[in-house]
Amino acid sequence: MYSEHAIILDAAYITLSLDHSWEEDSLKYENNLALMLDFFTFYGDKFHHQKEEEIIFRSLLKTDEPDIAMIINEMLEHHDDFRSTVSEIRELLYRKEYARAQEKITFYVNTIRDHIINEDEILFSLMDSIFSKEELDVMYDNCNVIDEKLGLKYKRELENYVTNLKIKSDEALQRAAYQLH
Ligand SMILES: [Fe+2]
Ligand SMILES: [Fe+2]
Repeated sequence: MYSEHAIILDAAYITLSLDHSWEEDSLKYENNLALMLDFFTFYGDKFHHQKEEEIIFRSLLKTDEPDIAMIINEMLEHHDDFRSTVSEIRELLYRKEYARAQEKITFYVNTIRDHIINEDEILFSLMDSIFSKEELDVMYDNCNVIDEKLGLKYKRELENYVTNLKIKSDEALQRAAYQLH
């Protein structure tokens, strides 16, 4: 799950490098951003969030950790917000409101980055401390079952797509990263 977070963050930063590229070629901007939105829907939501919601959060809710229900409810709300933000960006793109679409994607990147930091530092590290190795192995296997059902080959393709883009756009990415606050 940590490595999926890293790929999602890479994809998020790549979208920042698209800023103003519509001024040169609006069709290219539309295609590039639409591909990234598909990535967030299929990889970020279908592969990643599904495993968190069905396996990780459910297992954590069965423990008597203080405040766990509140923390998980907050994470679930974030997942819902991410879904609606991606839909709103698609709508803006459809209406060719590029500057507003880019503004929204920057908001999405900032919020998903904070969400991932919370999960890594609070939830995932909590899991490592409260579950036994055997319990973690069972969860890992269950996560693999979901990935296999959705399609491992497709998952690798999505990951490779982002990794290749990252290699190509490293310089643009570094410039774009300065926009983050
Ligand atoms: Fe999450
Ligand atoms: Fe996550």
